[in-house]
Amino acid sequence: LKLGVLVSGSGTNLQAIIDSIKAGKLNASIEIVISSREDAYALKRARDNNIESVAICPERYLSKMEYEEAMIKKLKEAKVELVVLAGYIKVLSPHFVRAFAGRIINIHPSLIPAFCGKGYYGIRVHEAVLEYGVKVTGATVHFVDEGTDTGPIILQKAVEVRDDDTPEILAKRVLEVEHELLPEAIRLFAEGKLEVVGRRVLIKK
Ligand code: GRF
Repeated sequence: LKLGVLVSGSGTNLQAIIDSIKAGKLNASIEIVISSREDAYALKRARDNNIESVAICPERYLSKMEYEEAMIKKLKEAKVELVVLAGYIKVLSPHFVRAFAGRIINIHPSLIPAFCGKGYYGIRVHEAVLEYGVKVTGATVHFVDEGTDTGPIILQKAVEVRDDDTPEILAKRVLEVEHELLPEAIRLFAEGKLEVVGRRVLIKK
């Protein structure tokens, strides 16, 4: 399965995919890494692993449409079959989502539908979790639809919230679960084991 990975930051989720492929646990290839930021450490991870990478930055384009068209062009040229949002913080338009209908997945650091949607990304998610006082949080991998963090859920895993947690400590514990779930979701997709029925994603054994 040919992957295109969109990133914006440190790229630890990208690294988890790279490691899973290297360990022979995931029969896929990362054809292109596209970062929305020139300074994303994720780009170094791609370079260190001889993976083609490019920074396509929204602020360099006159419109969101032109920005997304530049990404779509790169992804199509690389014959990408699944687009993976791995720490990618921009919201994709319905135009982009339709260009890869049913072939975009995203990892989010909470148990959707809790603590998700506009404004809930990165450390902010964990600050909100602690402010609210929930006892359980976690990570979610879902298909991307035209909403924000609203597509059919593929995998989730719970993470306990501890009394002495800070947002940073909690983020680190959730990130470890993200690194398990994302490669697993890609593997299930690659093996054709995901069946979307309405809003539900059934996993064939
Ligand atoms: C993290 O907040 C993670 O929860 C979310 O994106 C952020 C950075 O991920 N998915 P990464 O290290 O760039 O993969």
